[in-house]
Amino acid sequence: MEYMGLNEVREAYLKFFEGKGHLRLESFPLIPKNDKSLLLINAGMAPLKPYFTGLQVPPRNRVTTCQKCIRTGDIENVGKTSRHGTFFEMLGNFSFGDYFKKEVIPWAWEFITEVLKMPKDKLYVTIYLDDDEAYDIWTKSTDIDPARIFRLGKEDNFWEIGQGPCGPSSEIHFDRGAGKITTAEEFVKAGDEDKIVEFWNLVFTQFDKDENGVYNRLSHPNIDTGMGLERIAGIMQGTDSIFEVDTIRAVLDAVCKIANKKYGENIQNDISIRIITDHVRSVTFLISDGVLPSNEGRGYVLRRLLRRAARHGKLLGIDRSFLSELCDVVIKNSKGAYSELEEKEKYIKNIIEIEEQRFSETIDSGMNILTSYLDDLKAKNQKVLDGVSAFKLYDTYGFPMELTQEIAEEKGISIDIDGFNKEMEKQKERARSAREDSNYMGNDEGITNSISKEYNTVFNGYNKTKSKSTVDILIKNEDFADTITKGEKGIIVCGETPFYAEMGGQVGDKGIIYGAGFKAYVYDCKKNISGKILHLVEVLDGEISKGDTAYFEIDVLRRNNIRKNHTATHMLQAALKAVLGDHVHQSGSYVDDEKLRFDFTHFTAVTEEEIDKIEKIVNNEIMKAVPVVTEEMSIDEAKKKGAMALFDEKYGDVVRVVEVGNFSMELCGGTHVSNSGEIGLVKIVSESGVAAGVRRIEAVTGINSLKNFNDKLTEIDEIAKLLKTSSKEIVSKLQNTLQELKNKDKEIETLKSRIASSAEQDILKGMAEVNGVRYVAEIAEGLDSNSLRNLGDKIKSQLGSGVVVLGSEFEGKVSIIAMATKDVLSKGIHCGKLVKEISAVVGGSGGGRPDMAQAGGKYGEKLKDALAGVEKVLESSVK
Ligand code: ALA
Repeated sequence: MEYMGLNEVREAYLKFFEGKGHLRLESFPLIPKNDKSLLLINAGMAPLKPYFTGLQVPPRNRVTTCQKCIRTGDIENVGKTSRHGTFFEMLGNFSFGDYFKKEVIPWAWEFITEVLKMPKDKLYVTIYLDDDEAYDIWTKSTDIDPARIFRLGKEDNFWEIGQGPCGPSSEIHFDRGAGKITTAEEFVKAGDEDKIVEFWNLVFTQFDKDENGVYNRLSHPNIDTGMGLERIAGIMQGTDSIFEVDTIRAVLDAVCKIANKKYGENIQNDISIRIITDHVRSVTFLISDGVLPSNEGRGYVLRRLLRRAARHGKLLGIDRSFLSELCDVVIKNSKGAYSELEEKEKYIKNIIEIEEQRFSETIDSGMNILTSYLDDLKAKNQKVLDGVSAFKLYDTYGFPMELTQEIAEEKGISIDIDGFNKEMEKQKERARSAREDSNYMGNDEGITNSISKEYNTVFNGYNKTKSKSTVDILIKNEDFADTITKGEKGIIVCGETPFYAEMGGQVGDKGIIYGAGFKAYVYDCKKNISGKILHLVEVLDGEISKGDTAYFEIDVLRRNNIRKNHTATHMLQAALKAVLGDHVHQSGSYVDDEKLRFDFTHFTAVTEEEIDKIEKIVNNEIMKAVPVVTEEMSIDEAKKKGAMALFDEKYGDVVRVVEVGNFSMELCGGTHVSNSGEIGLVKIVSESGVAAGVRRIEAVTGINSLKNFNDKLTEIDEIAKLLKTSSKEIVSKLQNTLQELKNKDKEIETLKSRIASSAEQDILKGMAEVNGVRYVAEIAEGLDSNSLRNLGDKIKSQLGSGVVVLGSEFEGKVSIIAMATKDVLSKGIHCGKLVKEISAVVGGSGGGRPDMAQAGGKYGEKLKDALAGVEKVLESSVK
């Protein structure tokens, strides 16, 4: 057995099975498609389930893959051992009703003994208890020593994971020095002690387990095998630590380098090093597949992994963002098999940086708070951290609950998880009730959901704007009703309608429903929980009764504007992908008759040049006036055609595919124009950020684009009018005006200082003396208290020795200041007292230090009298 690199093992495996007639497929993304039972792909067979169950036809009935997988079930062990990881790759060969046991067993043996050249006396095989067929094949079609085959029970040799295809299995194990093993019990014990390691699971998939736990026999048996790539590479490299495997060791070494730590010197440090090494792999792959950090579902898994890694970085003493650097090493080592890593390198690193930065802003304060909670508990000898505190750390400081739990556990403290969940529930409840305030149907929502599921409401509005139908159901005041009368609001339901009910970001239609003697305004159209179309109406005239025949007529003009905006949204998505890259995915959209809003994944603001390009691309396609074709087909056909679908959207068997020329192809149930030319013109009116890694653009189309331009032109005309020029001259006129203003500012400054100095002279002219103390007490016109103080300072220095009292009225307020040079203070001068006395005259009050004081007042007309009082005060105070 010779050393093989991980990448070499992968290639050898895939090539071997290609040689056995298998089609090699790329790894599927980590995000499961159309599989609500699974958060993340966790086995090679997971994305292939529809082929096993016969729901879809495989591209070939023999397939081989190396599938990226994430399992977080054992996350608390990751780091503590050298075998656990959240990210791994699984090699597999699959038969969809083609070959079965008698082929797969000898092939497996051939691969491991002839390609990998594993010594036969190091290999063990287990089979399911009563699987004699497998036993016979192993003993007759391979040269394994029958004494090395053990029969084990369901726990070991029956493979299933949640719902779906499953069956008995046969596992192949490698001996790591277990010594002689003769019984199944000894075998299990050696496995528990890690002396034997399982590396390949051959599953004979004969059943499909349904949601009720029933095993349904599949019409044709399949083969599903799984070999952990890291594990087999470890065996080939003579190590039982996945962290010693070449490509992973490279990441680990990079962690050590950044942390400036040696691996294997300190148990705690090693744990942190392994956690970071593993988690950064998961994080890199998750982001490359379009997962973004969030507080829910996959996004939460990503956030947890990333923040846990960041925190262990802190424990290693790394006090800066570092995870995106590590992601370079992950990419370098894995890009050969996963080209998306290299393609999205910049995007992946950006998302990691943003998230790490976000967490680093709160991690220190959060850690301080958590530490103080934990110290408090320790001091009180308590062992449980309450849910409110744990929730606060989650909500305010971004500590995933599991992270708080892990840190608390390091100090022997557990968390009141029920309490935490209660707080989480309360928060959700608050959010719910906040939403309820804007509940569209008021109290009628509940009752609409009791409309019979058997009753059908058909949308016929893709090509009609008006149709006749019987009013089958009426709802008002939270109950089914027989009539709705003029002035009342309610809900009308009928069997067939051209009204589009709000869906997929497109708003509901408005319009009228009318018949003999009645007319109602439809102000919105929605679906109830089971998809029945509800017309929300206000009756304008007469009375509508159950059973009436009525015309349902939409507001065509409004619908046309909506159609333009909706088609433009598709076109924008295509253009965004073309200009910004393939990482652009829709994360939300809103289309009404006035504008469109499109949210998408992208990490930086879209620049003006990019917006320009996007607008040009879209408008070029509009001007080409290409047909917009909508077609119904099976989901398989749609995918084969390459239609763009939303990640999380669940589609039925028959889907609508909307194609705008050769430019855009999307699955969509909305209403669209029939030719791109109808859109007229798309104008992007804003670009902004909504969350980390998510941008939003808003745009207008058709007549609203014209309106947008006209509004801007009107604005320009108004500006021109104000500037007394023509719109053509606006810029040069504005430049001149601004220059003029600048000149004027300069002039004003000069004049101001001139006025000030002449005021200074005037004031000094009023100088007088009382008992040998010089003083001035004058009015300085129109100065605020600040300028008054500055002027006072100047006069004081001119005076050399003495007292300065100035008063001014400015913007209805009277200010008085008094200042004295140091030398006169000993003579009994006290500005504070002086000001207090004279400010009473102007209806004010004030005070201050002996050498400086100020006061305010109300009566400007009394200012003169107040200042005239200065002489007297000085006279009485100067000794
Ligand atoms: N599906 C099997 C496993 O994951 C091969 O082990």
